[in-house]
Order: sequence, then C-alpha cells, then structure tokens
Amino acid sequence: MKTDTPQTIYLKDYTPPAWLVDTVDLDVSIEADGTVVSATQTLRRNPAVADQPLVLDGEELETLAVSVDGREHPYLASATSLTLNDLPASCTLRTVVRIQPDNNTRLSGMYRSKDGYFTQCEAQGFRRITWFMDRPDVMSTYTVTLHADRATFPVLLANGNPVASGDEANGRHWATWADPFRKPAYLFALVAGKLDVLRDTFRTASGREVQLAIYVEPGKLDQCPHAMAALKKSMKWDEERFGLECDLDHYMIVAVGDFNMGAMENKGLNIFNTKYVLARPDVATDVDFENIDRVVAHEYFHNWTGNRVTCRDWFQLSLKEGLTVFRDQEFGADLHNRQTARIREVRGLRAAQFPEDAGPMAHPIRPESFVEINNFYTATVYEKGAEVIRMIQTLIGRDAFRAGMDEYFRRHDGQAVTCEDFVAAMAAASGFDFTQFMRWYRQPGTPRIAADGFWDADSASYTLTLSQSNPRASDDAPYLIPVRVALFAADGRLLPGSERLLQLSASSQSFVFENVAEEPVPSLLRDFSAPVYLDFDDTPEQLTVLLAHESDPFNAWEAGQRLATRLILAASTEIAAGRTPVWPASFVDAARQLLQSHAERGAAFVAEALTLPGETTLAELISVVDPDALHAARNSLSRHLAEQLENEFAGLYASLTVSEAYTPSSEHAGRRALRNLCLSYLVEFDGEAVRELAFKQFREADNMTDQFAALAALANINAADCRQRDSALAEFYARWQDEALVVDKWLQVQSTSRRPDTLATVKALTAHPAFDLGNPNKIYALIRAFGANLVRFNAADGSGYAFMAEQILALHDRNPQVASRLARCFDRWKKFDAGRQAHAQAALRRVRDHQGLSRDVLEVVTRALG
Ligand code: PHE
Ligand code: ZN
Repeated sequence: MKTDTPQTIYLKDYTPPAWLVDTVDLDVSIEADGTVVSATQTLRRNPAVADQPLVLDGEELETLAVSVDGREHPYLASATSLTLNDLPASCTLRTVVRIQPDNNTRLSGMYRSKDGYFTQCEAQGFRRITWFMDRPDVMSTYTVTLHADRATFPVLLANGNPVASGDEANGRHWATWADPFRKPAYLFALVAGKLDVLRDTFRTASGREVQLAIYVEPGKLDQCPHAMAALKKSMKWDEERFGLECDLDHYMIVAVGDFNMGAMENKGLNIFNTKYVLARPDVATDVDFENIDRVVAHEYFHNWTGNRVTCRDWFQLSLKEGLTVFRDQEFGADLHNRQTARIREVRGLRAAQFPEDAGPMAHPIRPESFVEINNFYTATVYEKGAEVIRMIQTLIGRDAFRAGMDEYFRRHDGQAVTCEDFVAAMAAASGFDFTQFMRWYRQPGTPRIAADGFWDADSASYTLTLSQSNPRASDDAPYLIPVRVALFAADGRLLPGSERLLQLSASSQSFVFENVAEEPVPSLLRDFSAPVYLDFDDTPEQLTVLLAHESDPFNAWEAGQRLATRLILAASTEIAAGRTPVWPASFVDAARQLLQSHAERGAAFVAEALTLPGETTLAELISVVDPDALHAARNSLSRHLAEQLENEFAGLYASLTVSEAYTPSSEHAGRRALRNLCLSYLVEFDGEAVRELAFKQFREADNMTDQFAALAALANINAADCRQRDSALAEFYARWQDEALVVDKWLQVQSTSRRPDTLATVKALTAHPAFDLGNPNKIYALIRAFGANLVRFNAADGSGYAFMAEQILALHDRNPQVASRLARCFDRWKKFDAGRQAHAQAALRRVRDHQGLSRDVLEVVTRALG
C-alpha cells in the first residue's frame, strides 16, 4: 500500500520561472519553541514568460503571516505550495514561518546537530526553511540576520560578508551577513553554534586578500591544519591551471558530524562532513588525508563551476558535478601521484558506476526524468560525468580545453545554464564538432568496444578493427569514443610512431598502422581514455609484456588486472564445479617481478598492481554470479601468491619501514601502502607468527594508516578464535571511542570483514552504544558497507537481504535520503541465482509495500523490482 503517488518530473517539461526574485532578506530567530524565519523577497514578473500566479515551494512550514507590499494579501496554502494571485508586476512579499530544526531528522533544510544549527539546501532544502521558488534558475542577492542565545550559539554565520552584529535582550545576540553575489537558493547556508575556528589568509594572483576560516567542534582545532593547507593549495592551483581567482572576501568551511553527503559548496560558507575536514596522523589514514585534499578542492572549485555558473535545472547536475570532479581529480593528480590517481579513479568507477549503469537505476549523466532528485547524486552523474569531461579534453587537447573553459565563463558568468551550453563553449574554442559526442550525455549504459588486430607481414602493417555496442542504449547509433593506442614489440620496446589517439565514430571501424615490421603487442585504451568495457582477446604473454613494459602506468596496471581477472573468473567456475583451481607459474613470476621492481616503478604503483580486482567489479563480468565461488577463487589466488612469494612479502615488509616522522606525502604513503599490502598477503597463512606480526604493528604504529591496516588484517582472519583479533578490536574501540570518525572505521572494519559470522557481528553492533541511526556516517560505515560486502550480503539464505530491508524500514521516515542509499545495495539482485533472487525480491517487496514509504526509497525499490 502506497500512501503517496510520486510524480515523475521530465527534462522536456522545463519552463523558465514566471517570476524573478531580485533580493531576499531573511531574519532568522532561533528560539526555544522553534525558529522563526521572516523572509522579504522583491519579486518581478519574468518579462520572457506569460503572466502566471506566483507559486512558492514549502515543506513542513508553519505559516504565521503573509503580506504583499506591506498589506495583507489572500493566498492559497497547501502542504507544499503557497499560491498568490493578482499580484502587481513587481512587489515585495513578506512571509513569516516557524520551523522545527530540532525535529528535523532528514538533515535537509535547517537542522540541529551536537554543536549547533546547520543547513543543507541542495537540492531542495531551502523550501524547508521558507516559502520560495526553490529552483536553481531563480538567482537572488541575499541578506541574512541571525538571532540566537549568545552563550549557547556564540558563532553566527551566513553566506557573504559580515555587516553588523550586536547584543539583544535576554542574553541573546544577532549578526547580519550580506552576500554580494546572486545565487540560487540551494547555495544558501547559515550556521549557529559553539565552534572553534582556525583562521588564515590567502593572497590571490591579483593581490586581493581572502580571509579563510575553518570552524569545528570545540577541541578539534589540532585536526584542521591539513584541510586549511588543502584549501590554500586548491586556490593556487585553480589560478595556475584555469586562471580562476577567488572572488570572495571571506571563505569559510564549517565541519559538522551529522551530514548526509560529503560536503556542500554553499557560497562562501561551505558545510562539510567532519570526515572531509578533520585529520591528524594518529586518527586519519593516508587515504583520508588525500580524500580531504580532494574534497576541499572540489567544494572550492565549485565556486566557479557551480556557483558563478550554475545549473538551469536539476537535470543539468552533471554540468557542475562532472566538471568539478574532473577538476578535483586533476588537482589530486598534480598534488600526489598522477599514475596511481588514475588507477584509483578507474577502480572506483568499475566498482560503483559500471554496476549502477548496468542495473535498475541506470541513467544518462544528464537524466531525462526523476521522481526524487536526491536519488540522482550518483556515481554516474559524478564519476562518469567526470569521464565525459576528460574525454572532451582528450579529444581537443589541454590548451583548447582551457580556452573552452575561458569561453564558458566569458559567455555564462552569473547564469544558470545547461550541459549543451558547456559543450558549445568547448566547440567554439576548439572548432571541434561535438554533435555525435553528445550521445554520452543522453544514453545510459557502459559501451563495449570489441577489438581485433591483424598483422600483415608482407605489407608490414597492423590493422586494428574496433566495434562498439551498448545494449542499454535506446538505439544503436554509435558514440564518438577516443581510444588511445600504442604498439609494443614482444621484447617490450614501444614501436616508434605507434602512439595514436583514435576516434572511433562508426559502429565498426578499422585503423591501419604502417611500418610495423614485427607482430605487435597492442595496448588499447591507454590512460583509460574512455569509460567502456574492452573485449579483446589478448594473450597472457601479451599482457605480461605490457605489465612489465608499458610506459603508460595505467595500462601497465590494467594488463595485470586483466590477467588476474581471467584467472579468478576461470577458477570461480572450477570451484563452483567442485574442482580445485590451478594457478599458472607465469602469473606468480610477473607478481615477483613487480615486487622486485618497486624501487624503479614506485611502491604506490606496485601496491596497486598487486591488489587483485574487487569482487563487485568481477561480478559484473559474470552472467549468474555465485558469490561464494567468486570469493573462494579470489581468496585462493591471494593465498597462492602468499605461498609462492612468502619470502618476498616478508622481506619487503621488513625493509619498507618508514622511519621518518609521519607525513601523508605520496612517497611515504606509497611505501606504507606496499608494506601493508605485504602484511595482508602474509596473514593469508593464518598462524601464530603472522598474528603476532600484525598485532605488533597494531600496537606499535604511530599513525592510523599502519594501525588500521593491521586491524583490518586481523579482522579478516577467518578462524573462530583469534586472540589478537579480539584484543585489537577491543583495544581500538577503548582507545578511540571519543573520536567519532575513528569509531566509524571500527564499525566498517567489522562490517566489511570476510568472516562468515559478519552479519551476526553487524547485527550485534546495531545495538552497540557506538552505533546511532541518527548519524549518516555510522549508517554508511556499518550498514551500507555491509551491503557492499558481496559474499556476506548476498548470503544464500537471504539473511543479508532481510537485515537490509529491516534497516531501510527503520530509517526511511527518519532520513529518506540515507535510507534510499541503503536501498541501492539491492541494485544487482538479478545477477544471482534463483534462490537468492527469491529472497531479494521478497525483501524488496516488503519494503515497497510498507505503508507510507518515503518517495526516495519508493523510487529505488520500484525500479529495482520493475
Ligand atoms: N553538491 C555537493 C558536492 O558534490 C554534494 C551534495 C549534494 C551535498 C546534496 C549535499 C546535498 O559537492
Ligand atoms: Zn560537487
């Protein structure tokens, strides 16, 4: 039984707003019985649109007063809209509403968190604060005055610049902020709380000084310097790479522990999940430090790509997100290690976006319809969106891409625009015809390229035939796909002149390489030049040559992944048939050579190359997945490598110790990554000696990277009794129980464990005082991470599915956005056998049929069942 009939919204139905809002004046008074928001908007009819009544959006607002030009005016209020007829062509509307931020468990709009009040307005949270035309193409200039108790909420912040502040009666105070930039409502923010602040300044290229501030929960200032450094590096990088300077006098970041997403780019007042701000060597891992760099940069980069130029409507989300992810990826690559950055991006794409694009929630990077926009903050819009931007740069080159960015800002600064507008600027600057390329914006699904090579000795030519297909697309017109290629000799030499960028534009197309005097080893899709699957029958010998010699590190890594993938998939079939897999010596030899080459090739690269493809990624390559067999096959290969290379792993583990004081530099991080990878292989022989080795590292580590790697190694030990595992988990919690982000790691290391009793552990942890259904980070760490644990979530008896359904129902009303993310764990239920499918279907139906199910969850489960 459904209680609401959700409306589908279509891109094709877009119409411009009938009214424009020039200024918004907000007076926000935080009081004991709620927060009173008085909003004064100056409105005028949009001259480009026929006369229409004024219709404002609202949600959970208690309307106290409405007036037009200082007089009462009739209005029609429903639960979600306020309609005014017979308005003059321009007028001033004043509304007064009361909201209840203390009861706002959805964390959208204004809500209470431990240290104060915070807001989240993207995509449609502003309507939960006041009546407004809550759509991104309505851009206004905001002035905000906040009132609150001075002792409880000493810090009062809003977008823009501080104008004035003072005291009021009853121990209260106030502050006024003015944002000189026109902005859509989704970029509005305010904060009232008790917070510590780290201040700094940045001088822009043209010499303006920007005041920087990071606000955090009291006592956490010593965890802010890394984020501050990241912010300054981002500001500098955007000037150098894109000529983009900060336009603000004040740039503030506020960290909050309760937040649905990673972070939010509100104009001049970013609000961040603490996870992407707080770091100190003893509480944050190398990966955390790097993620903070990327997310701080991402939100800062939005100031141009998203805020100065924003989206016309929410279908255009990838206009700002794909582009900004591409920018933060490039920043991360420049700051750390370009080789491993690309490898990790592609690993992430394959683990999350490819499955999404093959499942029930598949959508183009620019969707054509949605029920709930919050369901479309996806890997497709973000990560595939970034790949599409990267392909544009690949096709026209870096310089033309930069010229295209300049042109985009020249044309559209201050506007709300579409993906077409962006591509048109790129076309104008480069002269490139993107007509066919636009297919990447319009079709769902991961295209496949089938490749076939033929070397003709007589003519010394090599003909490469590429064919493309995309079964998920609505028709079979071809994409324009950039395919970077090089040819190698059997001894690993790059064949001169063979490095080319091919443009595959037909369904099937042949490319001829001349002067190829020997049978070449082709290396296709170098640097992962397009987000596609590649079907190519390369031989193990060819792949081994590429793994050892390819000068493009991505494709060297890729060769190793292709080798491992084939072995694991074949072994999985063997195991399912009751046979024992045999592993070729050549693979072990290649792995040994990698380990031996760590000094030349870089420890970080070698660690990536020796990390086997993940189960979720592998599952996508199989039509009916047997998760137990796949898991056993992958483990068996790990174990085999561990046995064959024990001396190498032990030797490297001993020699790679970082003796200098901890820094998250990519050089040190790479050494730690490889050393901890060696540890993870060594614990594959579960014996007292390795348990002690891991436990010693756990105890003695002076940084979270090493401590956590040891904990994860122990947490994965299958034996029912393992003293070191139990002690490490207990000690870790005892030591870190007051550091919320470290407690998240403790939960996650247990929910992602491969141990057979993981579900029982996760269930028990839902009752642990550390777990909190009100905190998204806790839910993601314990519940969603369990849903990504392929072998345990997809248990044959359906227990994982039943548990997940319960959790979704426990949460859907309280926090629909987070519940909906949990529902996504069911995306791939049709990939499993009939028995599992029956269990998954029953769980999904139970959720779907729940009375009063939130729209967010309903959309996801309906599509999953459909
Ligand atoms: N716009 C944010 C970002 O990508 C993400 C976000 C979306 C945050 C919706 C909160 C709510 O930077
Ligand atoms: Zn973003």
